[in-house]
Amino acid sequence: MRIVIAGSPRKGMYSDRLAEEYAAKTGAEIIYARKVSVNPCHGCGWCKGKGAGKCVQKDDMPEILEKARSAEEIAIFSPIYWWQMTAQTKLIVDRLYPLSPEEWKGKKLTVVMNGVAEDDDKEFKLLNEQFKEMADYIHADLKFLGVGTTDDAAFEKALEKVKAL
Ligand SMILES: Cc1cc2nc3c(=O)[nH]c(=O)nc-3n(C[C@H](O)[C@H](O)[C@H](O)COP(=O)(O)O)c2cc1C
Repeated sequence: MRIVIAGSPRKGMYSDRLAEEYAAKTGAEIIYARKVSVNPCHGCGWCKGKGAGKCVQKDDMPEILEKARSAEEIAIFSPIYWWQMTAQTKLIVDRLYPLSPEEWKGKKLTVVMNGVAEDDDKEFKLLNEQFKEMADYIHADLKFLGVGTTDDAAFEKALEKVKAL
């Protein structure tokens, strides 16, 4: 299975539409970050010790975690907020911490981030480099795409790039 984490707070807007295109193409299940109840990671380390890969918190994350665990691909679609993923996206990403290095190894990690900048803006380069370091660390197989969605015309170009992923 494959999962798409759709991280925009705005229903049906650019990031959602890119995520939905990708999910339709790949048969992935979409998890809308704005619809689930996921608390911040407490950093307690239970998942790495007694919890043996489970999280101690009782919210929607344990179910998402099991899907992420068995997924061959985790795709993150997030608008860029302050040069980063949205807070809604980050809540879920932090809570993927219980996945072990063995579970990450070889997993496909697809990251598509959209913002109001032009496609050649430095922010996309910086984000790409950051995710590359992260993927190298966990030995995941990264595909990164940073796209400008300044208006509907730019969005159409972004959609073509997502179709080509
Ligand atoms: C709080 C906030 C911070 C933002 N920061 C950035 C940014 O750093 N870089 C950028 O290109 N766009 C930034 N944007 C613009 C959004 O990324 C852009 O509007 C995007 O299309 C939103 O995606 P959506 O249409 O799926 O909601 C920001 C928007 C908000 C609300």
